[in-house]
Amino acid sequence: MTQTTPVIELRNLTKSFKRHGISFRAVDDISLRIQAGETLALIGESGSGKSTTGRLILGLDKPDSGDVLFQGESLRTKSAKEVRRLRANLTVVFQEPFESLNPRLRIGAIVEEPLVVQGVGSAEERRERAAGALERVGLTASMMDRFPRELSGGQQQRIGIARAIIGKPRMIVLDEPTASLDRTIRRQIGDVLDELKRDLNLAYLLITHDIGTVRQVSNRSAVMLQGKIVEIGPTAEITEDPQHPYTQRLIGAELPVSVAKPRRTSIETKEAAL
Ligand SMILES: Nc1ncnc2c1ncn2[C@@H]1O[C@H](COP(=O)(O)OP(=O)(O)OP(=O)(O)O)[C@@H](O)[C@H]1O
Ligand SMILES: [Mg+2]
Repeated sequence: MTQTTPVIELRNLTKSFKRHGISFRAVDDISLRIQAGETLALIGESGSGKSTTGRLILGLDKPDSGDVLFQGESLRTKSAKEVRRLRANLTVVFQEPFESLNPRLRIGAIVEEPLVVQGVGSAEERRERAAGALERVGLTASMMDRFPRELSGGQQQRIGIARAIIGKPRMIVLDEPTASLDRTIRRQIGDVLDELKRDLNLAYLLITHDIGTVRQVSNRSAVMLQGKIVEIGPTAEITEDPQHPYTQRLIGAELPVSVAKPRRTSIETKEAAL
């Protein structure tokens, strides 16, 4: 049987940190695959290792052992230049839209910035693509001259998404993209993400505490506990008929939203680290 190459594959990925001088595994021997057009939800209690998994995929953290394959190619054996080229296909959307948008830049400049960094297109082409990206996320090009503070939370998150898709990525890591939004807006952002995934054949890793968003957007779900995946399967099965007692508790408790304050790091710093 031939199987299509996954957009991303994690093989026995492990990452340790130190807490009070003692090393512990934030991510402990994780293996998973995500295909184009597929959303894998990553759920689990606060501190279970979800964001670290996302950061390992994005190359913001380096694994201690194991491998990340992008479209079948291991990132370990590549030169720094090749890794940068491949990583241009991987982008990220964060929880706090406002904190992840540079307040001093106008929307147009924020959205087109990834193209500037990659040296893609003329100023005019970039502006055109920014306008196209804004329309794709349900906004209008007339917003380009405004500043992030003038927008609502939902609009700000749409800007974050427009910025994430402008470079034509193959995969997006969505780290709690709806956590700071109210229920109606969550649903709208879920719709935008779902539509983009279908139109652009994207792969998503969706990190979220919100079971509503999991049900709305994801095909499969993986449940993390203390750095390990304890259950993985079709979202309908995981949410309707969870097998692991921990998953049953999580679903039963409707996953209370993380109270942890996100670290204040701008997209610019994170992308500079890539
Ligand atoms: N850079 C770091 N240095 C030390 N410890 C870290 C670092 N990053 C994460 N950790 C620790 O690793 C564990 C997993 O963190 P991670 O951010 O992946 O959890 P999470 O599942 O995303 O949680 P939340 O739902 O609260 O966002 C936590 O105990 C966290 O404190
Ligand atoms: Mg997290």
